[in-house]
Amino acid sequence: MSKKILITRIIPQIAHELLTQAGFEVNVWQGDGPMTQPELIERARQADALLSLGADRLNQNFFDQCGHLDVIAQFAVGYDNIDVAAATQAGIPVSNTPDVLSEATADIAFGLMIAVSRKMFYLHKTIEQGQWKKFEPLKNLGIELTGKTLGIFGMGRIGMVMAQRCQGAYKMKVIYHNRSRNEEAEKLYGARYVSFEELLKESDVLSVHSVLSAETRGIFNKASFSKMKKSSIFINTSRGGVHKEDDLIDALQTKAIWGAGLDVTNPEPMQPDNPLLSMPSVAVLPHIGSATEEARYGMARLAAQNIIEFYANGKMLTCVNPKVLSISKEK
Ligand code: GLV
Repeated sequence: MSKKILITRIIPQIAHELLTQAGFEVNVWQGDGPMTQPELIERARQADALLSLGADRLNQNFFDQCGHLDVIAQFAVGYDNIDVAAATQAGIPVSNTPDVLSEATADIAFGLMIAVSRKMFYLHKTIEQGQWKKFEPLKNLGIELTGKTLGIFGMGRIGMVMAQRCQGAYKMKVIYHNRSRNEEAEKLYGARYVSFEELLKESDVLSVHSVLSAETRGIFNKASFSKMKKSSIFINTSRGGVHKEDDLIDALQTKAIWGAGLDVTNPEPMQPDNPLLSMPSVAVLPHIGSATEEARYGMARLAAQNIIEFYANGKMLTCVNPKVLSISKEK
């Protein structure tokens, strides 16, 4: 009997095509949003494998009830919605979709940096409000980026593309803080490894590209913002949970830092009355880092390929708990 794959949202058709061609029975949740957890559990119980999205809460409760799953392929690079320890305990390999979205996501970080440095989103709104009356020699002044110091928090694939963009466009000096040294980034971009404290103190633009974990949750808080340069720009395109939003608002209102660009907020979605939306040197986007035709296609393809590889060869292309793959699971 063919294996049943549950895809938890409508995603690019390529995933469905590849899985069907490989002989699987594919069921795509047709809802306009994520399933509730009881719905997800009910449907996952009828499936052998899951192609999940970031809004699915795959926590201990989920694994207590769906430990029968063979494999989970997440349609995202981040997988903080999945309790990977519980998946591992249940013997379920989990994959994500790195690389295919790095260019797209770094573009958003890079774009937000420029937009913030010249107050673009805010000034666009002032035109709509009929406030463009005359040339203003001393108003609407931004700051330039050429030769400034870019601080990368989390030098993985996306952080490296951001470093490349900033070096190529603005000859920025690159410093970074990471769980471990990234020798490739040091070689390619002359990136210098620094402590978290140094990163805060020396960055003109501090761009977050880390995972959300127990170590990084809320790490950009009042204490951190108070150590940054008053002229600095904070960019976050990874996960909103890495910054404390009230502390960020306070840092901007008290001018502890100069500006902020966010593609991820805390909580999501951001409410329309959030004070950040009316600040001149702030730019916010609705979590669109990977939202290009190319990246979303690549993500759908890679997620499907992970499931296909798992059933064909017991391997996955991008498994986040690969040890599970070497232990055969009794079903
Ligand atoms: C998007 O946020 C992702 O993790 O891919």
